[in-house]
Amino acid sequence: MKVFAKAPCSSANFGPGFDVYAIALDAYYDVVSLEGGVGNLYITGPYSSDIVYTQAFKIFDYLHDRFVEYFGVEREELDINLYKGVPVGLGLGSSASSFAALIKALDKYYGVASRDSDLVYLASLGEEYVAGSRHIDNVSASLLGGFVISSLDIDSLVIYPPEWLNIVLVIPNKAFGYGDGKTRFSRGLLKDCYDLGDCVFNIRRASYLIVGLLNSDKKLIRYGLSDVIAEPYRWSIVPFEREVFDRINDLDGVLGHYISGAGPSIAIVIDSDDPDVFSGIREIVDQYSLECELVKTSVSGGADVWVE
Ligand code: HSE
Repeated sequence: MKVFAKAPCSSANFGPGFDVYAIALDAYYDVVSLEGGVGNLYITGPYSSDIVYTQAFKIFDYLHDRFVEYFGVEREELDINLYKGVPVGLGLGSSASSFAALIKALDKYYGVASRDSDLVYLASLGEEYVAGSRHIDNVSASLLGGFVISSLDIDSLVIYPPEWLNIVLVIPNKAFGYGDGKTRFSRGLLKDCYDLGDCVFNIRRASYLIVGLLNSDKKLIRYGLSDVIAEPYRWSIVPFEREVFDRINDLDGVLGHYISGAGPSIAIVIDSDDPDVFSGIREIVDQYSLECELVKTSVSGGADVWVE
């Protein structure tokens, strides 16, 4: 039996939802396939050369161990192939896609049929291994799809945003050499303590954002897309001037933007499929000669699993 699991990329820290909100996107995906074998790991796909093989081997082995331990099943030796289709280190939930696909495939292989919350928990152990913190936003989105409000205390909530909501990713051409340590580095830029006023600001915007998404209300989403907890401290990791995005925010059809995950990509939230919105963004990006790729993407479903 050969099991395949495909998990989409994701964009975490949507607006004011640091470590809680994330959205699954259909721009890129990873696939993990596995079958009985001798313990080999193969890495293929367009971004395979950005993966440090020995580290990936260790993490996959670690997650396999945690999986069998958690469910009390006997470990079998597997040959695993990771198709790396999500760009690495750019704030698109690349590691989470790999962990989500691996856990989903293991679940099928061992016939455990875990609850979503178990899958999220196990995949988050991979995030803890690489980033030193068990953030669950990206893995929840990759596993469950849609827009997630993630939690380990209770099942993560999935909202399907209005159909008109799309994202334009501004992906820098150059990564900054933080490699696998990028999320750890980017978390280190944040403060240990925040002013009460900043917390109140984010709670208010986060609340309006959710009501806006549920009620398909563009005005509320626009108001909700603002953050004073993470973005101001992390902009240094973004290789673009903020002014560019202030100008983009003023375009018709643009609701706002945020740093995608731990950066350095920016996610621009747009309110239609209208090609003019995308062209307007491209025009500004060209005026400022940003070295980047612009990718328009929509909300994705969660991880899929199948047997061949
Ligand atoms: N919420 C996490 C962080 C996402 O910003 O550190 C990392 O992709």
